[in-house]
Amino acid sequence: MPKKAEEKQELRTGVIYCGDNLDVMERLPSESIDLIYIDPPFFSNRHYEVIWGNGAELRAFADRWKGGIEVYVGWMKDRLFEMHRLLKPTGSIYVHLDWHAVHYIKCEMDDIFGMGNFRTEIVWWYGGGGASKRRWAGSHDTILFYTKTNKWTFNVDAVRESYKIEWTRGQKRADGSERTLKKGKLPDDVWRMHSLMPWAKERLHYPTQKPEKLLERIIKASSNEGDIVADFFCGCGTTLAVAERLGRRWIGCDVSPKACQLMRRRISKLIKEDRDIKIIGMPHDIDELKAMNPFEFQNYTIVDMLYGTCSRTKSADYGVDGHDHLTHNPVQVKQSEHVGRPVVQKFHSAVRREKRKKGIIVAFSFAKTAYEEAARIKLDEGIEIELRTVQELIADYYRRMGQK
Ligand SMILES: C[S@@+](CC[C@H](N)C(=O)[O-])C[C@H]1O[C@@H](n2cnc3c(N)ncnc32)[C@H](O)[C@@H]1O
Repeated sequence: MPKKAEEKQELRTGVIYCGDNLDVMERLPSESIDLIYIDPPFFSNRHYEVIWGNGAELRAFADRWKGGIEVYVGWMKDRLFEMHRLLKPTGSIYVHLDWHAVHYIKCEMDDIFGMGNFRTEIVWWYGGGGASKRRWAGSHDTILFYTKTNKWTFNVDAVRESYKIEWTRGQKRADGSERTLKKGKLPDDVWRMHSLMPWAKERLHYPTQKPEKLLERIIKASSNEGDIVADFFCGCGTTLAVAERLGRRWIGCDVSPKACQLMRRRISKLIKEDRDIKIIGMPHDIDELKAMNPFEFQNYTIVDMLYGTCSRTKSADYGVDGHDHLTHNPVQVKQSEHVGRPVVQKFHSAVRREKRKKGIIVAFSFAKTAYEEAARIKLDEGIEIELRTVQELIADYYRRMGQK
């Protein structure tokens, strides 16, 4: 498991994390986020809800819910625990689900957040759902709203509803004039808002894309300008785009590299100043990695792939470029092919100097002599020099996604 809360890095905003959100959240500092909205897979057993991208992503997800609802609930519970830890004491969370699992997740939320911190069950009536002559056709999703404590932000004036909307026409006066109050009606828990129409301008053809209007309502009500908004299942980045537009800071995460690229493009269009949106954890193809500048490459392998930390000082003399997250064992990164015996020998001295029993060298490939030297060291001194190729790290990345 990745490092626990206390040694975690500072929260960087304006960043998209590409990876399993559990791994990502475990690396973020406690009580640092004002508002979380999530729209996770609904346990609908329909592929589109999690699969969007290439074959590797598809394979990684195909078996996810094989164990049934218990597996799904356990999977969600681990993540909700982390979200609870990440919220500031004044923070709020909105969990978007539908009839498939909302009742199970409500129980988990009551456990994790406390029943007393449950605020509202919002019904999003999107209309145009399926039709049935045998039962009531589904036309809504459910959004659970909890707060971390009994102190929270709620900007009611920002989300008052106009009296002119269709379903309040009954409130017209006898002479036909609309009843209008300057401030508008206090909002309630049934939100009538159409899902994205095929012709909608904001449509990006992401299978489960939510309308910006929905997120606008949540973000305006439950955060202030400058606050930090997070979405850990952010798909094509609807939450992030709205947060950006409304002057909030944000962080996002999605396990799909394609989704991450898509949302980066979406948000970049909204940014006026010269600000680059970084995707952390994005797997690259091998040619790209070979062409990367050495510092970036080192960062990519140690931080993004091994979840480790890079050495602050350039310790090329020792050959230690960083440390792995779990054991703090030394790591050396070589942006080359056919790494041979001399590199292993030199790194072995560095591992000994750090009084460690294990170290990792990462490279594109290793010569036979490197493996022989590593085996000799293990036999003679019990020190393990693990030789890992970049290709293996990337394969591990996809495996982790599939197992979580
Ligand atoms: C329902 S979609 C979110 C759609 C989003 N609200 C939008 O408007 O585009 C759920 C997303 O969760 C992502 N996802 C599934 N499992 C994940 C995990 N373990 N970590 C991070 N993202 C995950 C999927 O790739 C998918 O993009």
